[in-house]
Amino acid sequence: MNVKEKILKNKLPLHIAIIMDGNGRWAKKKGNRRIFGHKSGVKAVKETVEAAGEIGIKYLTLYAFSTENWNRPKVEVDALMSLFISAVKNETENLIKNNVRMKAIGNLETLPNSVLENLNEIIDKTKDNTGLTLILALSYSSRQEITNAVTKITKKITSGEISIENINEEIISDHLYTNEFPDPELLIRTSGEFRISNFLLWQISYSELYFTDTLWPDFSKEDFFNAVYNFQQRERRFGKTSEQLPDKK
Ligand code: IPE
Ligand code: IPE
Ligand code: MG
Repeated sequence: MNVKEKILKNKLPLHIAIIMDGNGRWAKKKGNRRIFGHKSGVKAVKETVEAAGEIGIKYLTLYAFSTENWNRPKVEVDALMSLFISAVKNETENLIKNNVRMKAIGNLETLPNSVLENLNEIIDKTKDNTGLTLILALSYSSRQEITNAVTKITKKITSGEISIENINEEIISDHLYTNEFPDPELLIRTSGEFRISNFLLWQISYSELYFTDTLWPDFSKEDFFNAVYNFQQRERRFGKTSEQLPDKK
């Protein structure tokens, strides 16, 4: 039986987040420039979006560009920005056809206008779609997101809209970029790095983490299904004992 058939439909993660890493090393290994790796990574994005749709995942967040990535050489940053535009343009029809709803999180105002316009256009064109919600993290920093939330909440306290006694986890979640999405149950990182790199720090507090050595451009549907299957083999205890879990009674 292939791994896709082994996936249990009643135990799917609602939300999967992916740190798509390893494009540069993939290209270097082939004797190419880093940007070739980014271009090849677009194919892996398509495969992953399709795979998520095939098994009925509801939310997929892809870390495409961090605020720290602005510190890369200008040629690479420019090439990535152009790539975001062309990928969005080329994929719009497909996403509409596949009932995908596009969203974006991050400090989006810092993106070049051309990227932002294309992004807003696809978000608008797909806003009524009811299938997979595809969330692109662009110019994203989790610490910045949390800092923004603190600022917003403090302003509301000052204006009397929220009282200090009412601050709770839900209010904090409601002021993050991700306020309309559930927390991811599964976080995947490719390329053999074991770190979070400033991604969804609040939201992954109880996520299952899955690391694979596969470099992002090589990430296939099968790799995606393997991660989901692996997730389903885990016992999520949330602090309880194994015996307390409902399916153990
Ligand atoms: C991930 O691949 C893509 C982005 C961060 C934009 P990298 O470009 O980080 O590739 P490596 O990690 O250097 O191989
Ligand atoms: C994380 O990858 C950001 C994205 C995948 C967009 P990086 O390659 O930038 O992370 P570090 O530098 O290895 O932590
Ligand atoms: Mg990297």
